[in-house]
Amino acid sequence: MGLVGDKITIRGGRPLIGRIEVKGAKNLVTKAMVAALLGETPSILRDVPNISDVRIVRGLLEAHGVKVTEGDEPGSLLLDPVDVESAHYADIDAHAGSSRIPILFCGPLLHRLGEAFIPDLGGCRIGDRPIDYHLEVLRKFGAVVEKQPNGIRMSAPNGLKGTKVELPYPSVGATEQVLLTAVRAEGITELKNAAIEPEIMDLINILQKMGAIITVDTDRVIRIEGVDSLQGYQHRALFDRNEAASWAAAALATDGDIFVGGAKQAEMLTFLNVFRKVGGAFDIHDDGIRFYHPGGDLKPVIIETDVHPGFMTDWQQPLVIALTHAHGVSIVHETVYEQRFGFVDALVEMGATIQIHRECLGGHPCRFGQRNFNHSAVIAGPTKLVGADIEVPDLRGGFSHLIAALTAEGTSTVSNVGIISRGYENFITKLRLLGADFDLEG
Ligand code: EPU
Repeated sequence: MGLVGDKITIRGGRPLIGRIEVKGAKNLVTKAMVAALLGETPSILRDVPNISDVRIVRGLLEAHGVKVTEGDEPGSLLLDPVDVESAHYADIDAHAGSSRIPILFCGPLLHRLGEAFIPDLGGCRIGDRPIDYHLEVLRKFGAVVEKQPNGIRMSAPNGLKGTKVELPYPSVGATEQVLLTAVRAEGITELKNAAIEPEIMDLINILQKMGAIITVDTDRVIRIEGVDSLQGYQHRALFDRNEAASWAAAALATDGDIFVGGAKQAEMLTFLNVFRKVGGAFDIHDDGIRFYHPGGDLKPVIIETDVHPGFMTDWQQPLVIALTHAHGVSIVHETVYEQRFGFVDALVEMGATIQIHRECLGGHPCRFGQRNFNHSAVIAGPTKLVGADIEVPDLRGGFSHLIAALTAEGTSTVSNVGIISRGYENFITKLRLLGADFDLEG
């Protein structure tokens, strides 16, 4: 089920070897579930991973009257939005607690019900993670946004109308907000500086299946012609490239060899380039990608995280462990989130030599440069990690901690590992399959 206790004791030093499968991408599946709200008929989504973020969205949909049942094959969901209704505050709050997805319910709910409410939002502690772009976008479509003590209430007394939007930054969530709102708004919407991550392209595939008219230009411009009604969809979700990259990084750091079933090359091009530069090897197959340590020393690299097609911010944390083994100095410049190095304190405690800097290191100045954010990491290797008691700070940092413990000399206790099941299906079972040596507590 992917549900785990809170603590795992890992005896490090064994290479991870074997085959695991990845299912649909967390960052697509959760949005695809929200898109089902827009249909007048039920939708079927396939390859849905059993992770807690999916359970949160399911709970939120059910709180709004959507019937969610198992679909036509294992891992598929049937989402029936025919009886959508307003939810009680307590129900929304109970389900939404730790997720940012509720903000994406707004457009579809405004179309369906004329009103929406979102509680104060959660998600990983990786910076401020504001929702100002989302609110601005919704206002432009004609929503009335009213801040209340425990959340935000929205209404659309005159319906929602197509608009021109230029995002200050190609935000994934704000782009999805525009898409999910514009498809049923009256008239044409033009979105400039859109995010074009593969998960967004797959959401566009889904919306087109539902009856939407969406054009994507080469210059981050997306045009949407609103339509009067949308139908349910049937869709197999794009694979989770973040999970695939995490297992790839685990293979490299543990001197292992992991076949990631379901992984595909096109969506991972940038990751694969960096993986090869660090000294990792991979073989592309029709049904997945084999990632392995081919022997020899790992090499240092300079990485700048960026929006697609750049190196994803979610890929850096797992890869940092391999960089602590590389011979030389690596730099990771995080340009997407201002606070995504919280996880390195534990690595330093385990013996890594990592310094975090406020300055933009690694090439290009970014929007965090003149501000007080520790967003560049310098990693000097090779260092040997030794076991320690560490605590998972967030989803990707948590996976990185698992890898650190798997490579460390001696025993580590990693607590708060429940967070990892937000985005990694059955990771405990997968670790077992790959030969990791650990005990679960709690
Ligand atoms: N931002 C704002 N205002 C907004 C929205 C975003 O300033 O209203 C800023 C953010 O603070 C951040 C930047 O814009 O500095 C980029 O944020 P974005 O909106 O692109 O991220 P997101 O939609 O909140 C999704 C994924 C993240 C992934 C990012 C980047 C989901 C549920 N989350 O977040 O995934 O890192 O895109 O690709 O899709 C994860 O999986 O662990 C995760 C954090």
